[in-house]
Amino acid sequence: MYVNFRPTEAPHSERNDLQNIKRMLPFLWSYRGRVFIALASLMLAKFAIVGIPLVLKEIVDQLDVTLADTASIPVELPLALLLGYGALRLANVLFSELRDAVFSRVRYRAMRDISTKVVRHLYQLSLGFHLERRTGGISRDLERGTRSLSSILNYLTFNIIPTMVEFVLVAAVLFSQYDSHFALITFGTVVVYLAYTMAVTEWRMHFRHEMNAHDSKANSQAVDGLINYETVKYFNNETYELHRYDKTLNAWEDAAVKSTSSMALLNFGQGAIIAIGVTIVMIFAAQGVVDKDMSLGDLVLVNAMMLQLFIPLGFLGIIYRSMKHAMADMDLMFKLLDRQPEILDQDDANELRVNNATVKFEQVEFAYNPERQILHGISFEIPPGKKLAVVGPSGAGKSTLARLLFRFYDVDSGCISVDGQDIRGISQVSLREAIGIVPQDTVLFNESIFHNIQYAKPGATEGEVRRAAKLANIAEFIENLPDGYDTIVGERGLKLSGGEKQRVAIARVILKNPNILVFDEATSSLDSHSEQVILQSLREVAEEHTTLVIAHRLSTIIDADQILVMEQGMIVEQGTHQQLLAQQGLYANLWQIQQEKEYDPVSEAD
Ligand SMILES: Nc1ncnc2c1ncn2[C@@H]1O[C@H](COP(=O)(O)OP(=O)(O)OP(=O)(O)O)[C@@H](O)[C@H]1O
Ligand SMILES: [Mg+2]
Repeated sequence: MYVNFRPTEAPHSERNDLQNIKRMLPFLWSYRGRVFIALASLMLAKFAIVGIPLVLKEIVDQLDVTLADTASIPVELPLALLLGYGALRLANVLFSELRDAVFSRVRYRAMRDISTKVVRHLYQLSLGFHLERRTGGISRDLERGTRSLSSILNYLTFNIIPTMVEFVLVAAVLFSQYDSHFALITFGTVVVYLAYTMAVTEWRMHFRHEMNAHDSKANSQAVDGLINYETVKYFNNETYELHRYDKTLNAWEDAAVKSTSSMALLNFGQGAIIAIGVTIVMIFAAQGVVDKDMSLGDLVLVNAMMLQLFIPLGFLGIIYRSMKHAMADMDLMFKLLDRQPEILDQDDANELRVNNATVKFEQVEFAYNPERQILHGISFEIPPGKKLAVVGPSGAGKSTLARLLFRFYDVDSGCISVDGQDIRGISQVSLREAIGIVPQDTVLFNESIFHNIQYAKPGATEGEVRRAAKLANIAEFIENLPDGYDTIVGERGLKLSGGEKQRVAIARVILKNPNILVFDEATSSLDSHSEQVILQSLREVAEEHTTLVIAHRLSTIIDADQILVMEQGMIVEQGTHQQLLAQQGLYANLWQIQQEKEYDPVSEAD
């Protein structure tokens, strides 16, 4: 919803609109040939339509003269004029349609270009941005924005500019042919008409907003109630929910009635203004005929022109309102485009050169929000091909380490480097190429399992995908499914169990085969048996790879070369499993607790 914070500052929002229109021009410019043809067709169509009353006048005058003096002159059919009249009508339709046909490419191309541009921009924006925004909201902004771009182009080329052209042509005819008061009355009427339309539309819009607001509210109340169906029943609250719903609908009904009746007022007012204007013009014209200053044809001409002028103006109220809405929607979209991506490649960013993939964190400080520091002076190094494990209580900042290494966020101070290259100085693509992550919560695309695994390496062969699935200990499961690898996994992968999703994610990373591996609780949803099987394959996969493992279950990481214990964003202990046990600190304590809980023989492997 467009929110105008300072409604009194109208000029400000208008300036914005102008700027936004200016930003649309490049889209038109790239198709200037077509735009030019469309505008030329438009002019021709308008010439034809203004020509029609002129020819009509000639026809009436000729017939008038003929009929008046039937005695002296034989009746003659003004065939050429009649044919000309028909030709003008034809030309009008022809050029109008030609304009639509030619312009449609421009319009849809502009929509396509802007959609691609916005989506590309959305991918550039940081994870932080996307976590804050609701995806549904963004896609609505995008949809509304492109639709408004299209409708603004539409209104401009099909309504506003044509009406202006017609207006100028009519003015030219009236001023050149007749007494100036015809033109003056016509324009006076148009001005009053425009002012009235805008004022009433402005006033009415408020009913419309009210109606929409109640409508959304009623909708969300109904949906919310139905989503909470069980809760409603638990508390016997159907009547309460219905009452709330109906109360909102009642308000909606009132606003809708006001909106419709005010529309009737608008239409009646517009009609009245036209009627008064036309009557005055007709009185003058009839007086002209009586005084023999004007012919009967002139009277017909003036009448026809004036009525013709008001046909497009009749849509003005609707267009004015739609334009205002479209401008607001477009403004939202352009604001989105104006958002600077927080994580950008430096201009001189190099490609990451990986030798043996040493990962190093030096004095890293980080906060998602300035008010709450998450990491405090974190330093560690994972030597090439080694495995570093990070353990610690929930919320300690473990997953944050992985996000920083992947450069979803930049560190506030300190430095993260891969093979001695600060990750801020290399291209994001080359960095991410080198890192494979099995995230804590795996989300899958609503496509086949095959697609989801192959996603790691779009050109991968079927054999490669199957091998990865096998290593991730999920091949057997997949092959036993009725649709096998073609099974569709459902929205966000919800048709798979947590452990199955994790194994798909592992298969993906195995297929990607990067130098650096990050496993964030990669086996947390698995039962102990599957976990052991996968840990074995992961050990094989991780061999020769620099690996960062985040884990809750300590039994899964006892073989790590180095273990960090994190608490509240700080490293509180580090060493190998044996060293840490000997320290009798937090780690030894956690180990103790977990050992007591787990009587699973496999986890007592040490
Ligand atoms: N995008 C975010 N914005 C603000 N705070 C965040 C964001 N992501 C995480 N946090 C906070 O940062 C802290 C560390 O989060 P992190 O995900 O690194 O924890 P973790 O150690 O992985 O925990 P767990 O073991 O539960 O996965 C948490 O307190 C969390 O609330
Ligand atoms: Mg985590």
